[in-house]
Amino acid sequence: MAFRTLDDMGDVRGKRVLVREDLNVPMADGVVTDDTRMRATIPTITELADAGAIVLVLAHFGRPKGPSAELSLSHIVPAYSAVLGRPVRYVDWEGDAAAVAALAPGDIAVLENTRFFGGEETNDPAVVARFAALGDLYVNDAFSAAHRAHASTEGLAHALPAFAGRAMEAELTALDKALGRPEHPVAAVVGGAKVSTKLAVLEHLVAQVDRLIIGGGMANTFLAARGVDVGKSLCEHDLVGTANAIFDAADKAGCTIHLPYDVVVARELRANPPTRTVNVHEVAADEMILDIGPAAVEALADVLKNCRTLVWNGPLGAFETPPFDTATVALARTAAALTHDGSLVSVAGGGDTVAALNQAGVADDFTFVSTAGGAFLEWMEGRELPGVAALSN
Ligand code: 3PG
Repeated sequence: MAFRTLDDMGDVRGKRVLVREDLNVPMADGVVTDDTRMRATIPTITELADAGAIVLVLAHFGRPKGPSAELSLSHIVPAYSAVLGRPVRYVDWEGDAAAVAALAPGDIAVLENTRFFGGEETNDPAVVARFAALGDLYVNDAFSAAHRAHASTEGLAHALPAFAGRAMEAELTALDKALGRPEHPVAAVVGGAKVSTKLAVLEHLVAQVDRLIIGGGMANTFLAARGVDVGKSLCEHDLVGTANAIFDAADKAGCTIHLPYDVVVARELRANPPTRTVNVHEVAADEMILDIGPAAVEALADVLKNCRTLVWNGPLGAFETPPFDTATVALARTAAALTHDGSLVSVAGGGDTVAALNQAGVADDFTFVSTAGGAFLEWMEGRELPGVAALSN
């Protein structure tokens, strides 16, 4: 997809640039607990400010229904200023035009939560016009909000000259390498608890990738479809027919689906309970599959060694509870080492996935790790993201 970037903006000195960022960061007791999304904005914001633009950051925070003191973006401004290492002003929706007019080239301001306007989420032309009146140019740097066709993520791209920010550019370039025009063979790891939440992802991937590795609770549904008795494991028995249809679609497309043949089981999900590593056909009626086994991990490592591209979403086991993070950590380390050797392009995304890769200590060793949640999944489903489509030349 062709899109314009900051390189195409020309001289921005003195221009008011509306930059859509994702500042929807987790907070506890007024403290930002993970500033990854804030850090992702640094390249775009500092480049524009250093070039003399008046930088106006548009973002949402939470899912307010109208104005809410609790969900004001004013709360995150001190942390954001610390991350950027520069002063950041806060502009309320009252008197915003005058406040923006008082800013000087190089200034950075965060405008109040875009979702305080009901028309933000309905992409109301009046709200688009309200935002557009504040700026001369528009930059969308928030891939993780690009699955929303909102005024600040989609509408504005039609109202002002529109460009992709550096984080958006990096994300789109990496995703294109992973599924757009990847080097084959391509492997995908899809894990997580339930098939039902990732049905569209699986259906899309079987037609795109050569090897589909299914892990997490969702693997149990596929094992059940193959006639395995999964005991007390999390399993969506009503989706066994769907799992069979996915096997058939994979067969037709020439995609190999990999399921574990040894697994780690326990009678309860808690930290460090007694466990057994067994063949999938040996799970007892009162046991749960909580991770894939070492033999399966070794086989999957061999699969990755023969692939050129990897897309990863979701953990292979109940990774928050030790020792059921073992397989995820081991396979993530293999992927990181292959990436380091230059034999694999590895792209991962989704909330749980990022946490799992951080736990494995390899998030920085993947080619690209997306912090997007819903947007990454929709991209893995092969859907066009409205905020990205609107940037298309
Ligand atoms: C996210 O947190 O995934 C993005 O900021 C999008 O938020 P939303 O799901 O509330 O639109």
